[in-house]
Amino acid sequence: MTTENGGDVRLAGISKTYGSFTAVKPLDLTVPQGSFFALLGASGCGKTTTLRMIAGLEEPSSGTVMLGDQDVTALPPYKRPVNTVFQSYALFPHLDIFENVAFGLRRRGIKSVKKQVGEMLDLVQLGEQARKKPHQLSGGQQQRVAVARALINHPKVLLLDEPLGALDLKLRRQMQLELKRIQTEVGITFVHVTHDQEEAMTMADTVAVMNAGRVEQLGAPADLYENPGSTFVANFLGTSNFIEAEVAGRSGEDLTLKAGDGKLVLPAARCTAATAIGGKVLVGVRPEKISLTHADDAGSIPDGRNRITGRVVDSSFIGVSTQYVIDSPLCDAFEVYSQNIERDSRLAPGAEVVLHWNPAHTFGLDAAQDIEAGAAKVEEDAAA
Ligand SMILES: Nc1ncnc2c1ncn2[C@@H]1O[C@H](COP(=O)(O)OP(=O)(O)OP(=O)(O)O)[C@@H](O)[C@H]1O
Ligand SMILES: [Mg+2]
Repeated sequence: MTTENGGDVRLAGISKTYGSFTAVKPLDLTVPQGSFFALLGASGCGKTTTLRMIAGLEEPSSGTVMLGDQDVTALPPYKRPVNTVFQSYALFPHLDIFENVAFGLRRRGIKSVKKQVGEMLDLVQLGEQARKKPHQLSGGQQQRVAVARALINHPKVLLLDEPLGALDLKLRRQMQLELKRIQTEVGITFVHVTHDQEEAMTMADTVAVMNAGRVEQLGAPADLYENPGSTFVANFLGTSNFIEAEVAGRSGEDLTLKAGDGKLVLPAARCTAATAIGGKVLVGVRPEKISLTHADDAGSIPDGRNRITGRVVDSSFIGVSTQYVIDSPLCDAFEVYSQNIERDSRLAPGAEVVLHWNPAHTFGLDAAQDIEAGAAKVEEDAAA
């Protein structure tokens, strides 16, 4: 049931203000037809508001919403080729699963619904449950009913607002893959709102990271992760380590940087900051890119790697990996994740170590920003 063209969502200069408060700053965004698009951001950053403006449930303060070639800004929700699935799936409790899914067809006066409902239930793998009532299903099954109920209307775009928010972690993971499979099968545009970075990265082709009412960065998950354009994105998507450094020179494709009394190498192409000699740069490196070697074995580290020294202050064994916190003169809580293949038992708190990594895994950001941006918000979310 792939739709024809026209499932592009294009937002142009769209914004929303409540009194003097701006929930969404003027935003330009194109979601290509057939893509799985995630709006990711901390609580209150404007995700739901953006989604509701696409659905027509919220009137924009400025700007236009286009679906394909159609300007839908002035259309009421029910006239837009869009359906929404919310966190509370609000199934009809007195109707069985079959009738819940058939609802949209019956409302349009369609009498022979059996084939279509059957196909929809097969799509979400609930064919066997058709005659059960919603309360007889698990949370994940109910969520799939909600998806089937929305998809049976053949929307061009399906909007999902934290649809997995009520599920426990394991079921959430399962449903992420399930939703991704359904999207691939039906081929329509999904716009998925979440504050869970792993969820966004697992499911979406393209992720827009929102921060305080605007899109901070947009891209494919791996690209955002490997090439964050700001400390906010670097911290919000996973964990990053930052070292303050100064541009000392250039050698071929690389910048050489002075950090403390040491030297680091950064590919010039991976630096989004100005690179004039003497300029300040925040050097970033992800925890899993770093190797740890006990200081006694420092001689065995190959040449050409970036290296700094430090002392282990904490180590947590979490099964697939061990996560270390290292105190270094350049950064007081450097995080290093080591896969548990061959563990060096000397790497315990108090051990003197060398941290080293391939310079290609280094990125450089403008130093005039908050190193902690985005990090605290993740913790707030986790606590909430
Ligand atoms: N009707 C309203 N009147 C006033 N302020 C509002 C209204 N609706 C939303 N806001 C504010 O706009 C901001 C964005 O809200 P929105 O619901 O879009 O956030 P969100 O990113 O979806 O957050 P969450 O992850 O918590 O759902 C918030 O600060 C919120 O308090
Ligand atoms: Mg919301």
